[in-house]
Amino acid sequence: MRIVSGIQPTGNLHLGNYLGAIRNWVRMQDEWSAKGGECLYFLADLHAISMPHSPAELAANTREMVAALVSCGIDPDKSVLFNQAQVPAHAEMQWLLNGTARMGWLNRMTQWKDKAGKNREGASVALFTYPVLQAADVLLYQATHVPVGEDQKQHLELARDVAQKFNNDFASEDAPVFTLPDPIIPPEAARIMSLRDGSAKMSKSDPSDMSRINLTDDADAIMQKVRKAKTDPEPLPGTMEGLAGRPEANNLVGIYAAMAGISPADVLARFEGQGFGQFKPALGELLVEKLSPMAARYRELREDRAALDAILAKGAEKARALAAPTLARTYDALGLVRG
Ligand code: TYM
Repeated sequence: MRIVSGIQPTGNLHLGNYLGAIRNWVRMQDEWSAKGGECLYFLADLHAISMPHSPAELAANTREMVAALVSCGIDPDKSVLFNQAQVPAHAEMQWLLNGTARMGWLNRMTQWKDKAGKNREGASVALFTYPVLQAADVLLYQATHVPVGEDQKQHLELARDVAQKFNNDFASEDAPVFTLPDPIIPPEAARIMSLRDGSAKMSKSDPSDMSRINLTDDADAIMQKVRKAKTDPEPLPGTMEGLAGRPEANNLVGIYAAMAGISPADVLARFEGQGFGQFKPALGELLVEKLSPMAARYRELREDRAALDAILAKGAEKARALAAPTLARTYDALGLVRG
């Protein structure tokens, strides 16, 4: 069993990343490392250059994201924590898989359509081939499970298609080169939405900081963002059916449930008939209580650059060793002579 997942080091870790993915990373690390399963978590810095970026910010964000992940509970002694740039096998594997991935598959990716928008001609080639690098990230390590939020499901399906086609084209049935990975998507927090718009996902790229809760937000900022979150004038219903057609209310109830570790139905049972004037302060306090210990650890850790670099160097060394056998088999399967 091998768990592999990544996050782009573009700015802050927000509540969507935390509830959709990172919390599961920590859970799986704690459960599986005790049973001998391996967890690899990485910063997708190579993916980050697919959009216009500032090199100085990317370097700073990479270190800050390590600090954030460790603050959330990723333990570099239990998990392999690293950045792609220190493990060249990711970029090599992407090239090897570019021969297998089809243009038509990439053209159908919703993230490509969203991010390139109307300006496809001006988008980078990296943005288009981004999902092939993502396939390389997981196939390189024979990942069995990939914990992600709902928005990454399509990319994971593409990784499975690439693995399957490569195995069909270049390997025998009894000795496939790649394992087909399964996505693990938390049902209760698969898609955390923006606080300003219940139809858009909470995202680092939203220009309004009021749309998301960041790990770095202090208690005042969290309370203010929740207070100003878009809602409707109705009180909270007693059943889940009553949330139909109310995306903002549904999102806040979902966030409360995920943070409290209870079901959305239990949240409604607790708050039935109350308006947002009562519910929002309760949600804000819950968020402050749960996030502030992580935020405090983060503020301390992010100052220690030497420690952060040491974590990445150690993780990269382990990742390079784990990647080597599959990379070698891939070169061989393709008939590439390496002496
Ligand atoms: P990224 O950096 O956008 O997000 C990191 C993780 O957070 C999840 N997530 C969310 N979950 C629920 N609600 C939200 N609003 C929300 N926003 C983000 C994402 O689903 C993701 O799990 N392409 C990936 C990084 C990547 C990767 C990989 C992931 C590169 N290679 C290999 C898995 C395996 C990305 O940009 O995630």
